[in-house]
Amino acid sequence: MALMFIPLAVLAQLLGLTAVALISTWLVKYLDGFAWDGSSKQFNLHPFLMVIGLIYFYGNAIIIYRIMAGLNVPRLAVKIAHFVLQLCAFICAIIALVAVFQFHNANNIANMYSMHSWAGISTVVMFGLQLLCGFLIFLFPKFPEHYRTLYMSSHVFFGVFILGLAGATVLMGIGEKLAFAGNYSELPKAAIIGNVAGVTCIGFICIIIFIVTNPNFKFQGYEHVNNL
Ligand code: HEM
Ligand code: HEM
Repeated sequence: MALMFIPLAVLAQLLGLTAVALISTWLVKYLDGFAWDGSSKQFNLHPFLMVIGLIYFYGNAIIIYRIMAGLNVPRLAVKIAHFVLQLCAFICAIIALVAVFQFHNANNIANMYSMHSWAGISTVVMFGLQLLCGFLIFLFPKFPEHYRTLYMSSHVFFGVFILGLAGATVLMGIGEKLAFAGNYSELPKAAIIGNVAGVTCIGFICIIIFIVTNPNFKFQGYEHVNNL
């Protein structure tokens, strides 16, 4: 079973990078690309940064413990890499939120009216709290061992749960944006690319969760490298 780790980790990278490439192609080729000017080009930064941050960086941050354990990297370095990747994901998400809120305000569009926006804000708030708790409890000031052990199972549960929520939010967002175009039911090329991008994000998340919930991928050295 452990033999499957490398192919799965490679597949995760391929799916993650494909999702980013497809979202970029959709936004640049069919939706006018990017700008920071209050126009729909500014809106386009929202899906772009969300997929890079809350899907690609987030997923990689989660499996980095399994990847680095195999390479015997010192435990503190792995923890810092895990934290820095999650921080990058959070920064992308905040810029993506500013982009869409400013776009709505500049064009007199109501804020927070959709299921997507409610699921999205819940995702970002929970992600921010998880980042804060993880930082305080595991890194600095770093709680005593008893509390770290107590918190660990919730940290892993919410780490996986929030990734799933991010996936659901992305699907709703892509569906909504495609529906705004008015010709979704004719399945134009833009819709095919958007739909495939969404499904690819879900494939990426599936592989990440499969890896992180599988005890066979806690390799020799994992406990040594990652003891709390
Ligand atoms: C996990 C990733 C995402 C999160 C957390 C998220 C979050 C949000 C939030 C909170 C809003 C409300 C902004 C406002 O009301 O001013 C919003 C709006 C929007 N987002 Fe996302 N989003 C994500 C990904 C995406 C993706 C990939 C797309 C695809 C195009 C997208 C499309 C939209 C659209 C069309 C709106 C405006 C309509 C609405 O408010 O529902 N989002 N998003
Ligand atoms: C939003 C931010 C975060 C998310 C979503 C998250 C998610 C996760 C997940 C899913 C795991 C399980 C990994 C595995 O079993 O291989 C994990 C493990 C861990 N995380 Fe985080 N994490 C976040 C932030 C942090 C921060 C800031 C720290 C502080 C350095 C941290 C420290 C740890 C530690 C020490 C482990 C245990 C690894 C082991 O099994 O030995 N996390 N995290």
